Amino acid sequence: MPLLEWRRHIEHRELQVATLEDITVKTLLSEEELQAGVARMAIEIAAAYGERPLTIVGVLTGSIVLLADLIRQLDIPLRVGVLQASSYRSGATRGALTINSEMMLDVAERDVLVVDDIFDTGHTLVEVVAKLKELAPASVKTAVLLRKRGRQEVDFSPEFVAFDIPDEFVVGYGLDYADQYRHLRYLAVLEPDDLASDRS
Ligand code: IMP
Ligand code: MG
Repeated sequence: MPLLEWRRHIEHRELQVATLEDITVKTLLSEEELQAGVARMAIEIAAAYGERPLTIVGVLTGSIVLLADLIRQLDIPLRVGVLQASSYRSGATRGALTINSEMMLDVAERDVLVVDDIFDTGHTLVEVVAKLKELAPASVKTAVLLRKRGRQEVDFSPEFVAFDIPDEFVVGYGLDYADQYRHLRYLAVLEPDDLASDRS
């Protein structure tokens, strides 16, 4: 069986509709499409680093599912650590960011790859990269599952992006709304009605 056709630029399309608990979600990326995108990104990452040992730093909490899948697609020497970036947010609105790096590996003189779920305004990754650079790594690159079109407010872009998606609020495969839906195996668009009501 040939692999799923590679499709990075996801346009609006007929979405499969499902009912999840009490809300309606539309599938933007199926489990198979997500897996194919992560596998493809892993090939690009492996090619970029070759045999150079890599230190992967996952940004909690949204990267957990991507992190688990991505590292198992990488057949290169690597270490895995995490840091936590949380914005005091309610629902879909972004607030001030705090970075907790107590659980992180030492990164001095290492080639570091920061892994996050989504590049939206871009402020989170810019701040995380700035914080890591204070620790004198050999290099810092970034990899994200998703990049939302037309949303970026920073002069920066991740080196590795699995999918470019429309500007919609998405959940699943690690991404949450009010800490829910991270466990979905697919990526779903939440309806504006569900975002409007405060479900936290
Ligand atoms: P930033 O705007 O690039 O700083 O993104 C900050 C964080 O907002 C991301 O790491 C996600 O945790 C969250 N986020 C942004 N867009 C979405 C979305 O569509 N669904 C769920 N979380 C999102
Ligand atoms: Mg989040």
